[in-house]
Amino acid sequence: MNSQLWQRKPVEHFEAEMRESKLKRVLGKWGLTSLGIGAIIGAGIFVMTGVGAKEYAGPALALSFVVAGIGCTFAALCYAEFASFLPVEGSAYAYSYATVGELFAWIIGWDLILEYGMAASAVAVGWSGYFAKFLLLFNIKFPLWLMNDVFTAKELVADAVHKGTTSNLANHYSDLQLPSFMGVDLSINLPALLIIWLVTAILVRGIKQASSTNNIMVVVKVVVVLFIIIFGAQYINTANWSPFIPERGTYTDAMGGTHNAFGLLGIVSGAAYIFFAYIGFDTVSTHAGEARNPQKDVPFGIIVSLVVSTILYILVALVLTGMVSYKEIDITAPIAAAFGAHGLTFAVLIISIAAIAGLTSVIIVMLLGQSRVFYAISKDGLISKKIFGELHPEFRTPWKANILIGAVVSLIAAFTPIEGISKMVNIGTLLAFVLVSIAVWIMRKKEPNRVRPFRAPAIWFVAPMGIIFNLGMMLTLEWQNWVRLAVWLIIGLLIYFIYGRKHSVLAKILLDEKHKP
Ligand code: ALA
Repeated sequence: MNSQLWQRKPVEHFEAEMRESKLKRVLGKWGLTSLGIGAIIGAGIFVMTGVGAKEYAGPALALSFVVAGIGCTFAALCYAEFASFLPVEGSAYAYSYATVGELFAWIIGWDLILEYGMAASAVAVGWSGYFAKFLLLFNIKFPLWLMNDVFTAKELVADAVHKGTTSNLANHYSDLQLPSFMGVDLSINLPALLIIWLVTAILVRGIKQASSTNNIMVVVKVVVVLFIIIFGAQYINTANWSPFIPERGTYTDAMGGTHNAFGLLGIVSGAAYIFFAYIGFDTVSTHAGEARNPQKDVPFGIIVSLVVSTILYILVALVLTGMVSYKEIDITAPIAAAFGAHGLTFAVLIISIAAIAGLTSVIIVMLLGQSRVFYAISKDGLISKKIFGELHPEFRTPWKANILIGAVVSLIAAFTPIEGISKMVNIGTLLAFVLVSIAVWIMRKKEPNRVRPFRAPAIWFVAPMGIIFNLGMMLTLEWQNWVRLAVWLIIGLLIYFIYGRKHSVLAKILLDEKHKP
């Protein structure tokens, strides 16, 4: 039975499944690129740049984007090579099933839940922040306890009390008191919960609506990011860039947590923090089953969406830290607030609307990616096919999976602070990138002659650099994140040994073949 753990799913099995696939091949290379950009540009740039500059890298945040962008480029080349010769919907999960074996594939599939599902939670929390900013423009306020999880609500109050800015906070909310029940303070991020449910409803209705909604939002988002760069550049005060790399130190946040800030180490730990901004280019590979010409167009979509976003990010980081001193940056809606600080209320309105639309598109693509990965795993029997693999009779979508994912993801978004969720997402995704870099290298050694419509250049350099850069960023994340990752992986292993191993379709096929006369 142990050999099952290392059993590889033959590439021919994948090819046969793809021929039988019921998914329609509707996506061209620009459609795939649009899905990539739809997933990439989101909370990372609209929200996390604030903490990235203020608490990690200072004006050198632009360099953090360069470091994280380089790590992602190495991983993207590996993803592109895999996607070209194995154009199936399971992404990194499927690639590792074909190369290393069942257990490794399961671990990576389980890890991808952190990437797609949890990222949707984090983005929903960011969405809620911009939604509140937008409502505030019309003087519509809600109580603090309806717009934040309990940790964030308490941190906001503690921070305001500490700085003597309680009246400022009171301008943002209609009530600062948290209700309590049996001595426990209560608070919920209701907008974050509701947006996840709205997106889940769209997804249950089907990809067609989701994909056209996504295209419109991607256009809005890119136009507004260009607006931020071009218009914001006129308000840059170069004195704000000096010193470009502030002196090294430790940063203590309002809750007493400390981490490395500024200096060269601050740039790298800043990269590990804003790495979230890059997550999503790999979702292009989960759509290989819907691509018209996956071998060529999926690598194109992965690489072009990453390059476009990297350039935009570096420019936005420079504009943001040039418009306001990194010390004064607002951490809930930093970009809108930077324009607000220059009295540009109309720009705040435009940016808030774009952020709300843009973040919605990220949530759509992430939840879609999550259900695709579950669909692929359920076809292999490692999770319940009844729940994750059954399509709705009318809409042809994995509706039960969508609803289950929506329920869990919305609860996490409603009750957890964005920083905790996003770091968990980052460590999980960085691990997936490291594993994919390893797997592509192994595959080159094991099957050097397989036809690869796209070959990552200089694999002897690209694969090890993918491992080093992404592992390097993982190492700068605080130990608590490692513990959470370990706990997550242990839960995954338990599920595999209790359920997956016994229900594996591949194991059954191999057993039948063995018993054939
Ligand atoms: N990269 C995506 C975002 O920044 C997940 O929202």
